[in-house]
Amino acid sequence: MDKKVTVVGAGNVGATAAQRLAEKELCDVVLLDIIEGLPQGKALDLAEAAPIEKHDAHPTGSNDYEASANSDIVIITAGIPRKPGMSRDDLLSTNAKIMKNVVQEAAKHSPDAVLIIVSNPLDAMCHVAFNTSGFPKNRVIGMAGVLDSARFRAFIAMELNVSVENTTAFVLGGHGDTMVPLPRYSTVAGIPITELLSKERIDALVKRTANGGAEIVGLLKTGSAFYAPASAAVEMAESILKDKKKILPCAVYLEGEYGYNDLFIGVPVKLGGNGVEQIIEITLTETEKTALDKSAQAVRELKSLLKKLG
Ligand code: APR
Repeated sequence: MDKKVTVVGAGNVGATAAQRLAEKELCDVVLLDIIEGLPQGKALDLAEAAPIEKHDAHPTGSNDYEASANSDIVIITAGIPRKPGMSRDDLLSTNAKIMKNVVQEAAKHSPDAVLIIVSNPLDAMCHVAFNTSGFPKNRVIGMAGVLDSARFRAFIAMELNVSVENTTAFVLGGHGDTMVPLPRYSTVAGIPITELLSKERIDALVKRTANGGAEIVGLLKTGSAFYAPASAAVEMAESILKDKKKILPCAVYLEGEYGYNDLFIGVPVKLGGNGVEQIIEITLTETEKTALDKSAQAVRELKSLLKKLG
């Protein structure tokens, strides 16, 4: 195919993302992992499903970054996932080392790629990827808001017994407990949910969204969510590969937008062939801005912890 995407990390999120990319026939797919045999085995399994799923995405697996050369997009899911009782922030030092190593190699072999970061803690990992790659800010994008908004949409649809397709939602801020779901900008068939649900019910859905990752970790016990995270990363990749220019909430590097500087945080952006093509600044109420400030502060704290870790 004329586009190529490498997924680094052939674990739960990475392998599921590779499957979705292939089944949507968006690009050739390369799976890469540090464990010998794992990406090769999963890619071969995907290739053997291809005649039934009807795609020519040529899935291949490798432990060598040579195989990733000249990718249009590199999706990075390498790292350790959460276990019960752990916050995303507990993953910081391990995943920062992995991210640095992965980005060095990925950037060397695909200097023009867009990096989609998935590993947690997300906003901090985006800083590592941005600094390590030296890529311009439009080509380093974190996956968080699309996932958090999808969770919010799923809960809205369950609550009102309507199709998920009728729902839209916006969740901004860092990918953690301080994320900022915006009910005013979340709708069912264009109707803001503030017109359809009581404040108490909206607060409950907002709380469930903010704890959405932990809820799944608590159920799985051996790892964290992967179907929805993979779907979210692939929606971002699709908008870039097809130059669709979708507006999606993503973690991007801000230089003054929303009043923040030198900080990755989730805001609405336009994703097209050049990666982040526009950062959209929406008006926030005082309460929303205060919540976003708190979230930004949480990201800043992780960023300074990263600095201490070297
Ligand atoms: N290079 C390449 N792959 C690596 C490296 C590395 N340096 N270090 C670890 N990996 C691989 C592991 O071998 C494993 O196959 O990353 C994969 C991670 O897969 P899982 O353990 O299944 O974790 P997953 O659920 O996919 O989550 C990955 O995404 O959502 C986030 O918080 C989550 O940070 C976690 C990441």
